[in-house]
Formats: sequence, C-alpha cells, structure tokens
Amino acid sequence: MKSVLLLVAVVCSVTGLPALYDNGRIFGGGTAESEQFPYVVSITENDRHFCGGFIYSTRWIVTTASCVVGKTASKLKVVVGQVSAINADPNEQTLAVYTITPVPQYNSTNQFNDIALLKLTADIDFDYVNVDFVAYNELDNNLPTVVMGWGATFQGGLESVNLHYGEVTLNLVTATSPCGPYAVNEEFNLATMICASNDPAASTLAPPPTATLSPLGSPCSYDEGSPLVQVMGDVPTVVGILSKTDGCSENSYGVYTRVSIFYSWLLNTAGPQPIRPTTEAPTTPTTALPGRK
Ligand SMILES: *[C@@H]1O[C@H](CO)[C@@H](O)[C@H](O)[C@H]1NC(C)=O
Repeated sequence: MKSVLLLVAVVCSVTGLPALYDNGRIFGGGTAESEQFPYVVSITENDRHFCGGFIYSTRWIVTTASCVVGKTASKLKVVVGQVSAINADPNEQTLAVYTITPVPQYNSTNQFNDIALLKLTADIDFDYVNVDFVAYNELDNNLPTVVMGWGATFQGGLESVNLHYGEVTLNLVTATSPCGPYAVNEEFNLATMICASNDPAASTLAPPPTATLSPLGSPCSYDEGSPLVQVMGDVPTVVGILSKTDGCSENSYGVYTRVSIFYSWLLNTAGPQPIRPTTEAPTTPTTALPGRK
C-alpha cells in the first residue's frame, strides 16, 4: 500500500497536474510542517489511514461517529506526531485502540451528533511541540478557520501521503439558505453543525478571507474526523470535526460537528482535559528543608 501511494505521488509530480492539485490536499491548501498541527491524528484500520481525529488527552482521541461506528477497536490504530504517512517521523507514535464510544445521540441516517471518542490502550507521550493535546471551544464567526488532514487531494483520490491544510470560509445557514446540498433539518442541524465552503455563491458568516493565513482549501475523502481549528488568543482551538463533504472542489461544502455542544458528554466520558504545564521556571520554595517536601 505504501509503495502504491509513493508511486502516485511521483507520477503526479512528473505529469504536472494543474496547480490546485500540485500544492496539496485537502483540495487546494498547503503541506503542513511537523510542529504546525501537533494535535491532529491519523486513524488507521489494518494500518491504512481512513479518518482523522484530534488529541483530547493522553488516553483519548476525538473523531466522528461515522468514522468508527461498526469498526472493531482491535483493528484500529491511532498515529500521533505524524506528518508524512510514508516516512517515519521522529515524533511519531502509534497507539492501539481499546474502546470506541460514539455519543448515544448519534444518528447514522442524517449524521446528526456525529462525534465519538476512542480510548487508547496506553498513554500518548506529549512533548507539547510535535505531539500535544488541543482545547476545544465554541466557534468564533469572525476568526480565520483552517481544516487539515491526510485526505485525498482530488475527487476519487486515495488518502494523501502528507498532512495538508487549507483555510475555509464559514457559511451562514438558515432555513432558506442551506449548506450547499445539505438541507436544514433534514441533513443539517443548525444547533449542532457548522457549514464551511469556499464557494463564492455561499452566504458567509463574516467577510470571506482576504489576507489569508493559509492557502484556501477544502476537505476531501479520508479527511472525515479531522479537526476544524481557529486560533483564539494565540491558542489553537478545535471548533469542529469534519462529518461529511459533498465533493472535493474549491466550491465543495463541508459539514462539521460543533464540538462545544458535546462538552458534558466529553467530560463525563473522557474526564477533563489535561492542564498545560507552565513554561516558567519553577520557583524555589523558601521554607523547604533539604531532602524534604
Ligand atoms: C434519524 O434520522 C432520520 C432521518 O432524518 C429520522 O427519520 C429518524 O427519526 C432519526 N432517528 C432518531 C432516533 O432520531
């Protein structure tokens, strides 16, 4: 499998596909560096990538229910600290999955409440640089929003060798303005979903990106479960996870699960997120005696 992917990559670069395909996945977008998204994970089945997710804590991964419902935990693995799916990255760790827990309200017909937790059989070793957990919060309509994953770089393509990312535009969805093909109430739940597309025809929540942080991109197959991220006061923060897309072009629509809605379920199932260690030098307690705490 790995040699096939390599071959595809080589053939594409030699044949010189159009620029949009060249600079990466997701469709459009750019190629990630190892420290850029230390919380994104690749979920594999029989060692083949099929969905993304993010690190919630040392033992828990968040992904979509649609990615993992019906799968067998013992066949899944989670790869953290990875950028290239072919080369062994120095910070890469592969962990076995112990349990698959979808939220009880998940509806596989319309994909409402599309979120699940994976419990790992061992702890992830955080270095807080290349491998790290990430906070989650409610969407801020006015911040730039980025999605990342190892998904295909074109419609019908295989999973990607390298982690790619792209900026997406947040869309306004109302009863009369659907999320592309996803009709409100039938396939799109206003309370629990986020719609994003770079389609110029879509209504936007805020002005579309002009001075872009990142190249524009849109998710594709095998990007499901991948995080949608905003930087809130210098802190990368997950606001959504990719549930479904209607294609792989710049005008495709992505539907994301609004992660903050599931705060109580995440807390009750996986416990609180870790507290980030302070980077300041520890102060010496003045009352401590040598050899005593
Ligand atoms: C799941 O979604 C389908 C389609 O919208 C709906 O008919 C069904 O009632 C839903 N199931 C539950 C348990 O809500």
